[in-house]
Amino acid sequence: MITYNENAGQFQLDTKSSSYVMQVREGFLLHLYWGEKLDTGDHSYMRWEQGRAAFSPRLENCEGFILDDLPLEYPCFGRGDLRSPALEVINPDGSNICDLRYASHTITEGKPVLPGLPAFYTEDGDSVQTLVITLRDEISKIECELYYTVYDAYGIIARRAVIRNAGENTRFIKAAASACVDFDNMDFDIISNYGTHARERMTERFPMNHGKFELASRRGASGHVHNPFMIMTSHNADEDHGDVYGVLLVYSGSHSISAEGTQFNAARMLAGINPDGFSWKLESGEEFSTPEAVLCHTNEGITKLSHMFHAAINDRLIRGKYKNSRRPVLLNSWEACYFSFDESRLLKIGKCAADLGIELLVIDDGWFGKRDSDNCSLGDWVIDRRKLPNGLDKIYNLLKENDCTLGIWFEPEMVSPDSDLYRAHPDWCLHIENRPRSEGRHQLMLNLSRPEVCDYLYDSIAAVLKTGMIAYVKWDFNRNMAEVGSEALPYDRQGEVSHRYYIGLYSLLERLVTDFPDVLFESCSGGGGRFDAGMLYYMPQTWTSDNSDAIERLKIQYGTSLVYPMSAMSAHVSASPNHQTAHVTDFETRFTVAFTGSFGYELDPTSLSDEDKEMVVKTSELYKKYGHVMVTGDYYRLRNNYEEDCAAWCTVSPDKSVCVAGYVNTHVRMYDRNERLKLKGIDKNAVYRDVLNGNTYSGAQLSGFGLPVHITLEYRSAMWILEKI
Ligand code: DGJ
Repeated sequence: MITYNENAGQFQLDTKSSSYVMQVREGFLLHLYWGEKLDTGDHSYMRWEQGRAAFSPRLENCEGFILDDLPLEYPCFGRGDLRSPALEVINPDGSNICDLRYASHTITEGKPVLPGLPAFYTEDGDSVQTLVITLRDEISKIECELYYTVYDAYGIIARRAVIRNAGENTRFIKAAASACVDFDNMDFDIISNYGTHARERMTERFPMNHGKFELASRRGASGHVHNPFMIMTSHNADEDHGDVYGVLLVYSGSHSISAEGTQFNAARMLAGINPDGFSWKLESGEEFSTPEAVLCHTNEGITKLSHMFHAAINDRLIRGKYKNSRRPVLLNSWEACYFSFDESRLLKIGKCAADLGIELLVIDDGWFGKRDSDNCSLGDWVIDRRKLPNGLDKIYNLLKENDCTLGIWFEPEMVSPDSDLYRAHPDWCLHIENRPRSEGRHQLMLNLSRPEVCDYLYDSIAAVLKTGMIAYVKWDFNRNMAEVGSEALPYDRQGEVSHRYYIGLYSLLERLVTDFPDVLFESCSGGGGRFDAGMLYYMPQTWTSDNSDAIERLKIQYGTSLVYPMSAMSAHVSASPNHQTAHVTDFETRFTVAFTGSFGYELDPTSLSDEDKEMVVKTSELYKKYGHVMVTGDYYRLRNNYEEDCAAWCTVSPDKSVCVAGYVNTHVRMYDRNERLKLKGIDKNAVYRDVLNGNTYSGAQLSGFGLPVHITLEYRSAMWILEKI
């Protein structure tokens, strides 16, 4: 609910568990409070001490009102707030000053559409309201609309800003954050995910310091390195207790999320498009909308924050046929055969997979152009008849006869220099005239800010999907941006290319998911290099990492689970020894770990032992029966593999009738203490039976004493599927 207290000039945004309060003072929009839910009332007493900023500029006619020491809701560069700005605008005289003051506001039911960008949506019956506060600089006539959509039931607030040039002269936006929040203290720990290819979303927790901590991407992708979300917690917060604040950017391009500790031991959190390399020309009358950032607060610990994000993403970000439903058990051909396959090998793999109960065979890279290795053919999305003389028909028909479906891989945003597409359109890639074009994995990036490029991609992909044979698309993206230029834009719009690329990509994806609603799309970027809320709006799941090693996945999945739901996290049983790490793990462990997410296999089933084939049959059946729990259930991190020699978790269905728990021993310690796994989220008054071994336990036993864990060998695991009886 959103309340405006006219006397106090105060806005109060309440979700079912939190409140967010702002107030207009001296024309400035100040932030008063974000935290545990308040009564509705006048909160004017919530003031920051003033007059301390000795060297900071004073505002004229506002005694003691020092911007540098005030909680500003959308601070601008140039007027006396010397912390990091949310907005920086370059004026025609070259100055970069902007002075935004409150002008007006509206409160409406529901949520206005964010044109062209991914965003959380609403459904009929949702208790959702939107506050739009308009700020204006009377001199430059720059206007800024701050959008706050309050999702009462999910406990989230979706924010964004629209910058409009209501003046006569052209101006340039140098930086425009999606959200800014000032805190009156910096007594926080920061929790964030860093990483690299095949080691994504490694979790770090550390106390906030003076100066600025920034999770940044200048890669033209959210990237493997700094995932676009950040958590700030009270120092004593843990999984089950304490104040926790989260911010998640709904964007797949270059981002910046920062936490700045100030001279007065206060904090500023900023989230938005990375200003480095960015600028946006605003002609008179034009406007620019930032991507959306989603804020979430709870005083019930980190698990609760994860659950709130998981529910909101599952219910109000992910769309389409596979929203909140179990995904098909798939087998992906990449680690089964890489580029070395032909029709007869695929037919053997497909038949074997179908016989083992697998529901979807995905032909990964290598089916098009002359693609025998990664050095050619991206852009030429035409079946390679040397490998597949019958096109996709023969494999499709075989799968169909065996109740299995067909999926296929694309890497649409790229072009190989050795491709017919590049020979025909050398200007279609991102590049800067007279400079070398840097390749990554022997490929260049297409310039998706050009509509004709997006049209070409739509036509190429649609031609394959229109055959009606394709149930699933894996959408890959295997390098990041450099030489970000476009001949199609004038010199003073080159700073727009990276964001316009994403406007192009998102519109292409929107066309495809609209025209092919039955196709399951999975996003991928060398694994999880674009695991972000922007992509999840179009594709309900992401290939979590190119590291398919079950042991390595423990930490990756832990980090991913902080904000992203398990439904979004593709997890496959791969071969042992693992192709990336050479770790040897038994089938049970690989299954236990992969069962946590959207489940599949990444191996050649024809090469499995009979014993392992039986395991595939058994585990596929289990996933078909219990996979819905992984999609809609509440996920609890029970052991932290960053701190302990084990990992453990459980997922509990919304009605608490099923609980799937897993435990992996990652390092053997001799004669160690008795290990017990206490479950969370279950019904303590119920009785559960483990469907894997028939043992029964009361809910109180499971949460009080827990499950005894007797694992004395490294990389071994235990799994329990507990059903209420
Ligand atoms: C990177 C992906 O992450 C892999 O799963 C695979 O699809 C390869 N690309 C194919 O080139």
